[in-house]
Amino acid sequence: MNPIQVGLLGIGTVGSGTFSVLKRNQAEIRRRAGRGIEITMVADLDLDRARTLVGPEVKVVNDARAVIANPDIDIVVELIGGYGIARQLVMEAIAAGKHVVTANKALLAVHGTEIFAAAHAKGVMVAFEAAVAGGIPIIKALREGLTANSIQWIAGIINGTTNFILSEMRAKGLDFASVLKEAQRLGYAEADPTFDIEGVDAAHKATIMSAIAFGIPVQFDKAYVEGITALSAQDIRYAEQLGYRIKLLGITKRSIDHKTGAVRGIELRVHPSLVPMKRLIANVEGAMNAVMVHGDAVGTTLYYGKGAGAEPTASAVIADLVDITRLHTADAAQRVPHLAFQPDAMSDLPVLPMSEIITSYYLRLRVADEAGVLAGVTGILAEAGISIDAMLQREADEVGAPDGDAQVAQTDLIILTHDTLEGTMNEVMARMQALPSVLQPIKRIRKEELA
Ligand code: HSE
Repeated sequence: MNPIQVGLLGIGTVGSGTFSVLKRNQAEIRRRAGRGIEITMVADLDLDRARTLVGPEVKVVNDARAVIANPDIDIVVELIGGYGIARQLVMEAIAAGKHVVTANKALLAVHGTEIFAAAHAKGVMVAFEAAVAGGIPIIKALREGLTANSIQWIAGIINGTTNFILSEMRAKGLDFASVLKEAQRLGYAEADPTFDIEGVDAAHKATIMSAIAFGIPVQFDKAYVEGITALSAQDIRYAEQLGYRIKLLGITKRSIDHKTGAVRGIELRVHPSLVPMKRLIANVEGAMNAVMVHGDAVGTTLYYGKGAGAEPTASAVIADLVDITRLHTADAAQRVPHLAFQPDAMSDLPVLPMSEIITSYYLRLRVADEAGVLAGVTGILAEAGISIDAMLQREADEVGAPDGDAQVAQTDLIILTHDTLEGTMNEVMARMQALPSVLQPIKRIRKEELA
């Protein structure tokens, strides 16, 4: 049988990785797919660079639409990124009856509903293993390997840049800004790192996993997104003293009312979280990714690997190419649905607003070191029915000389709580903040036991 023909839109880092891995492993890939897979056309604005990368046998053009219009191309691989032209090209490729492979998490998290509906109507596949956690086959695991399970929760380190920064902050005791600068110098963080450090990239990926895990539409606009820019080395140290590491987690969870057993809705959130040091995921360092998935039958599982880079991401892109090669002649109804659940069997469970989520907390209060302060703070927690899990108070001289008024010694009071409603915690924090003995804005970091 003739090889299946693939057209690449964009040949940057991932595109060139895909080209070289496909070439290097072509014999084995053909044995697995049952048919050769060849990149025969590439569109890129930098024609000279593209030609140098792929050699004379591959047609190189600067017009992506020429790839989509080529009747010999069966699969279009979109590696342009972003929501703009990439969205138009993906929709045009689908309309032209092409299968699509994309690594574009932003596009799918925001426009996935429209894209999957168009693909379903046209009977083509849109495959996106590379969009979440790079080389880790987490989409395959969630959609197929764990299909027997009612998924309870997912928690992942799904942004390598921020995990690298947090690892460095902890190891070197440095603050965020200086580590970011160093990460940029070393090429671990982009010149404009906003999407990574503000948690947006992780939220795109968490949104996609949430849809697949719970059979809900992709709803990036409902995700709570908080990055790592406000984290201090001091909080990392205090967390460590209490047996925790701070990680930027993408979390999605089926929220259960423990009194009635009813499902309240779906939590979808990205924020720094304290994680017990004894969990494997707490020890995932540097730019590596890891995703924990808890299913009712399987229990807790953990997937670890490189979340970015040319060949790890190519590994996921090519896995999709092989899947499509195997399945493209199959009856469309027999294929694995894009979001794991059949399109007519999606759930309308709501994504909960942040005030409705339930989690536990790390609170750091800068307080006057005088009688009655602790009682005032813990009294507010007790009145709200919030149970304290652990406490740490630094001696005043351990946290340096008192700021400002030399007559009043100050200290840091760190409180870990048990689970509570975020809305209740917001009210409690406002009451604590109003105490005259609380001298600075209270620092709140959420905590996940991941048991
Ligand atoms: N910028 C991402 C990261 C990789 O730092 O993990 C691509 O999603």
